[in-house]
Amino acid sequence: MKTVTHINELRNQISQWRQQGLTIAFVPTMGNLHAGHISLITHAHQHADKIVASIFVNPMQFGANEDIDSYPRTMEEDKAKLVVAGTDLLFTPTPDMIYPKGLAKQSYVEVPNVSDGYCGESRPGHFRGVATIVCKLFNLVQPDVACFGLKDYQQVQVITTMVEDLSMPITIIPVDTIREESGLALSSRNGYLTPDEKAIAPALQQNLQWLAQAIKASHANSDSIDFIGLTKKAANAINSTGMHTDYIHVCHAQTLQPASEDDKQLVILAAAHCGKARLIDNLPLNLD
Ligand code: PAJ
Repeated sequence: MKTVTHINELRNQISQWRQQGLTIAFVPTMGNLHAGHISLITHAHQHADKIVASIFVNPMQFGANEDIDSYPRTMEEDKAKLVVAGTDLLFTPTPDMIYPKGLAKQSYVEVPNVSDGYCGESRPGHFRGVATIVCKLFNLVQPDVACFGLKDYQQVQVITTMVEDLSMPITIIPVDTIREESGLALSSRNGYLTPDEKAIAPALQQNLQWLAQAIKASHANSDSIDFIGLTKKAANAINSTGMHTDYIHVCHAQTLQPASEDDKQLVILAAAHCGKARLIDNLPLNLD
């Protein structure tokens, strides 16, 4: 695996591959890699000849009071994992290279509607930062396909919408969430959990599963589905473990608008604070 920090080195390698007629898959990350990230690399192999990954802790997507300084940085371990997974090129730019004018003077990409609620509401400016860095990285790497994890469900919708709205010639491949045996979704932020918090954290996914079953049962009985009442019950159950629910909503799987009785393709989106960590998770739900 070749590692490049400078934009011109990246562009040189990409254009060499292009001249050889090779296709490129891209996996953007913020590092501290775990099996969820590596599964994106594994999927990427099914779609292109060369695999490019990036590690960049993007300041534009962190709020003023968020964890950019303490965000885990483990470059050497990450590189070793990427080599084993068969990555061809790793791009590790610095913030100055990506945002030479500083964040305040930087042009940005805003994806309306899908960015608005849920994590977009709890973390103002977050999805603007995500869309902007992903757009920049797409322009630098110019991949044919790019892989994103469904663990960050709203992020996948934001990126898919951006690519569609701005006619970017890139196929977005969504990849299933990798979980611990307990059901806890793997996340770089799980490292903030104490052993006691780690023991209660799986209750987030467990209660999403309870909520999905309750919605299915209601649908099967052809009762009208009390989305709000059932969601409240799930939130109370999560809070009773010692976590603190930030939001939990049942939404249309693509538009992310609040679910209505007619919607069949749904997703439950949730975020909860568990000690210092803010955990997010989701559960797709098909009522057909
Ligand atoms: P990061 O949190 O490092 O995640 C990089 C990619 O790994 C994202 O597509 C994310 O959805 C995926 N991922 C994380 N945990 C996963 C899991 N348990 N199973 C499957 N995939 C998982 O997401 C970001 O970085 C940034 O916002 C980024 C897109 C790189 C832009 O800065």
